[in-house]
Amino acid sequence: MYRTHTCGQLRLSDAGQTVTLAGWVQKIRNLGAMTFIDLRDRYGITQIVVEEHSTDDIKAIARELGREYVIQVTGNVVERSSKNPKMPTGDIEVAASALKVLNAAETPPFTIEDNSDGGDELRMKYRYLDLRRGPLQRAMMLRHEMAQRIREYLDKQGFLEIETPYMIGSTPEGARDFVVPSRMNPGEFYALPQSPQTFKQLLMVAGYDRYFQIVRCFRDEDLRADRQPEFTQIDCEMSFVERDDILTTFEGLAKHLFKTTIGVEIEDQLRRMPWAEAMAKYGSDKPDLRFGMEICELTAEAQGKGFVVFDSAEYVGAIAATGCASYTRKQIDELTEWVKRPQIGAKGLVWVRFEEDGNVKSSIDKFFNPEELKAWGEKCGAKPGDMMFIMAGGRKQSLNALGELRLEMGERLGLRDRSKFAPLWVVDFPLLEWDDESGRFFAMHHPFTSPMKEDEALLETDPGKVRANAYDFVVNGVEVGGGSIRIFDSKLQAKMFDLLGFTPEEAQKQFGFLMNAFKFGAPPHGGIAFGFDRWCSLFGGADSIRDYIAFPKNNSGRDMMIDAPSVISEAQLKELNLKIEIEKDK
Ligand code: AMO
Repeated sequence: MYRTHTCGQLRLSDAGQTVTLAGWVQKIRNLGAMTFIDLRDRYGITQIVVEEHSTDDIKAIARELGREYVIQVTGNVVERSSKNPKMPTGDIEVAASALKVLNAAETPPFTIEDNSDGGDELRMKYRYLDLRRGPLQRAMMLRHEMAQRIREYLDKQGFLEIETPYMIGSTPEGARDFVVPSRMNPGEFYALPQSPQTFKQLLMVAGYDRYFQIVRCFRDEDLRADRQPEFTQIDCEMSFVERDDILTTFEGLAKHLFKTTIGVEIEDQLRRMPWAEAMAKYGSDKPDLRFGMEICELTAEAQGKGFVVFDSAEYVGAIAATGCASYTRKQIDELTEWVKRPQIGAKGLVWVRFEEDGNVKSSIDKFFNPEELKAWGEKCGAKPGDMMFIMAGGRKQSLNALGELRLEMGERLGLRDRSKFAPLWVVDFPLLEWDDESGRFFAMHHPFTSPMKEDEALLETDPGKVRANAYDFVVNGVEVGGGSIRIFDSKLQAKMFDLLGFTPEEAQKQFGFLMNAFKFGAPPHGGIAFGFDRWCSLFGGADSIRDYIAFPKNNSGRDMMIDAPSVISEAQLKELNLKIEIEKDK
């Protein structure tokens, strides 16, 4: 046996026992006669002491040790004279009576402690060393814990875990596919699944009425802190259900996870907010409800007073930033620059200051009198001491910019507390989204999403108005999951493809297998998929999903550790019947 205990296990009650530990040397302190070693494994850190009266052999080995050496120590558990209350093992130390180097180590390129001195890229390159650090180990353990709790809940609810293939054809989730050339079928490619969407629907046709899978998905899209090219979904589908059945079942999963992994009890039914309300009040389809500061429309009030910026706008709206009346000119200028950045895209920022003494000052005093501005303040819930920020322009773009400003002010005012959770469902999304550039509709969710029954007639007359029977699960401004009730009628599905600009031949070629399956007795069905990495990072209190993925890619989609993607040999290319030609500017 290499060890009798782990490095996180020993307590004062173990004093007097002889134990053997094995692990990595995190730190060595030579204090003249004595040497202290912090020995680490994934369970914790235990202090080892090599004393003055230890044998010369042990002292010699201790002198040789370096950081990250793998060692084995046998010794007595003794009470420490100076205890460390910050460490669970801080009451004891192990007095070494035998010490063995199991493997020496080169000096690591960064410190392997909770706060490392290594930059992002370096830590990605040596991911296996980064993974030794406490925060990443805790992240991996949280992920494991969540996976167990998910399986526990879904299994109890009668869901079957069924795997679906990775080498498939194109899937319709709206991103680009990653493709794999087929050697046996020259000139042909598999596509990696953007999600198992069509397969889980086929499983419903096959009668497996409750399916789930914790499954890898692949999407070639621009990366952000909460996006990876390969990520994991908790993918689920159910038959003989309506929207409420799905929401109830997965609200149950959410509550179970909140309770069993982070100890947060959610008693009430989750709020169900229509998409139109989310857009109007929060400028986002994934509202952060940890704080108020809702957007308030002022188009009617603001127009017709000669201020051309407002008069020429499709929409005027505001937020009342709590306690910000004291903002200086400089702070307002800085915020104005912030909203003008291309990511936010606002043209400018109008401010109205509600001073503590009841006075109102603004950047538009020339056009509006204090009574008018006070009425706006009342409408928008601004109190003395608050500052109202107003934006005008196109409706969609202004709401988006106000939504971003709301989040930024929430951040600056410390209202986005990571230990607080505000989950909700966003429902009643539009089914279709018009794209001016290509002059056609796109499916807001995916082409298999069913329209709301009562809106079906509008498909013929005003498709842009049709609401989808779709829902998103949103927590703290993060889209954690999304799904829909599906179309299960091949005629309606064909109509949908037609609206999306597919010719019948194209639809048949790409999705014929699904439409044909629907002809053989498809049950009514619907489902949802949660972003597992996102859910983990939300519970862990992190912004980036990277730390919850053992081996993630960087922002250019590269695995820094194994240096992929990379070129392949001429022989491999030949075998695959491929010729590479790269455009000059690439
Ligand atoms: P959707 O495309 O909304 O739905 O994806 C479901 C959830 O997956 C997460 N997600 C991602 N996480 C990390 N990196 C990415 N690149 C990424 N893309 C998406 C999000 C998202 O809410 N087949 C449908 C589900 C269904 O209809 O049942 C689907 O994939 O948290």
